[in-house]
Amino acid sequence: MKKILSVILLLTVICFGSMYVLAQNKEKEVKNMSLENKKILIAYFSWGGNTKFIAEKIHSKVNADMFRIEPVVPYPTDYNETAYGIAKTQKEKGTHPPIKNTDIKPYDVIFVGTPAWWYTMAPPVMTFLAENNFEGKTIIPFITHGGGGGYTINKDMAELAKGSRVLSPLVVYERGTSETEKEIVDWINKLNKEFK
Ligand SMILES: Cc1cc2nc3c(=O)[nH]c(=O)nc-3n(C[C@H](O)[C@H](O)[C@H](O)COP(=O)(O)O)c2cc1C
Repeated sequence: MKKILSVILLLTVICFGSMYVLAQNKEKEVKNMSLENKKILIAYFSWGGNTKFIAEKIHSKVNADMFRIEPVVPYPTDYNETAYGIAKTQKEKGTHPPIKNTDIKPYDVIFVGTPAWWYTMAPPVMTFLAENNFEGKTIIPFITHGGGGGYTINKDMAELAKGSRVLSPLVVYERGTSETEKEIVDWINKLNKEFK
């Protein structure tokens, strides 16, 4: 009986040990990607927290600096006031609202996160892309949405960020699911090949 228990214990240790080693290797796969040798920034705008949530997940897998794109005049906390008031007006007028100072000069690769707002990116992200010099830089979009998908946000970003190269976006419904973590790892590995 004692012998059987020892064998079971040994097998359990081997099993968990292998799982740990596999997890470590997966982690390394992301850390060793060629993007990793570049200076990377994760810049995002988030009104309700979903895009921030995804930005933090990406940050946990990529060696990068991170900052939040913030409009000088914050949006109201009330959904209707924001969605059907100011954001809708900005969308209709094509407004690029002033944002707090951002400096992208030191970075080669910039992950740009936005919620889908009225079928495109949120206006402060438009300001961020239009007012900085993206010549020769690589943009990697990540988008959260409420059911409409990623629209043509990656193309809209390329149009605003003159001279940039835009890679494949990550598109997530709200905060994603239990699969999102794996999707992020797969996406980063795909980006690594695309970047070369
Ligand atoms: C002003 C506004 C406009 C929106 N427009 C869209 C839209 O066109 N399509 C869509 O799928 N979701 C839309 N949504 C939902 C958001 O894209 C979605 O909830 C997103 O995950 C919010 O991200 P956040 O929590 O980081 O702000 C909109 C939300 C707001 C507040």
